[in-house]
Amino acid sequence: MSTDPTQRHVHLPDGPIPRHVAVIMDGNGRWAAERGLPRHAGHREGMKAVREAIEGAAEMGVGILTLFAFSTENWQRPRDEILALMALLKLYAESECEELAERGIEVRVLGDLSRMDPESREAIDEIQSVTDGGGAMRLNLMISYSGREDILQAVRALAARVEAGELDPAAIDQERLEDELFTAGLPDPDLLVRTSGEFRLSNFMLWQLAYTEIHISPVLWPDFTRADLSEAILDYQRRERRFGRVSTR
Ligand code: FPP
Repeated sequence: MSTDPTQRHVHLPDGPIPRHVAVIMDGNGRWAAERGLPRHAGHREGMKAVREAIEGAAEMGVGILTLFAFSTENWQRPRDEILALMALLKLYAESECEELAERGIEVRVLGDLSRMDPESREAIDEIQSVTDGGGAMRLNLMISYSGREDILQAVRALAARVEAGELDPAAIDQERLEDELFTAGLPDPDLLVRTSGEFRLSNFMLWQLAYTEIHISPVLWPDFTRADLSEAILDYQRRERRFGRVSTR
């Protein structure tokens, strides 16, 4: 049997596969520090785990995979780390575009992209248009994203419509607000995976995660494989989802 973890065959028992899986990819810096490497080396290695998660999710039948790649707060990191991350995201968009399209993976990049450099935005436009219509899986890359900002920009959009006389404030309900979030039209995540053993939401999808099951993996993101994703899904399958109601078991 191969010892390469990326070649490991993953078995999933019969059970519900989450329709939407969201991932907080954490631990790149610690992975690099453990090896005496600069932080950007951890991010570069993290790109392999991104491939692994995408392929694994698509094989397991996940419909939507949402990856937290860069938060609004990450703009406060040292300039060289921000530049390295932006270069990696652009490299990723350029180098994976064709393969993602061939696999039928439709990519959307969600967040405040106005802060990104023009070349990165061009690469994002390209990956979105080349992969558009892919029916195998939807991949959301959350870049320059924060949950609170997502809600705020939705509120601003609703307020503008009220100001224009197009919307009655009394008609604002959960669905109307959801229609203005970056994730408009998508179901909420069923499962959130966070790596590196941290128990935090870190301002990620605060509205959308209201009833999401959470799996914390001890693995640092660059070491994450499809077997770890499979373990998260097995953990999910053991949960009883009640959405605030009483048990039906
Ligand atoms: C968190 O680790 C990770 C990030 C801030 C960036 C995630 C980026 C990648 C995985 C690379 C490329 C992504 C794509 C979609 C191509 P951290 O730096 O906070 O780690 P630490 O907590 O150990 O310091």
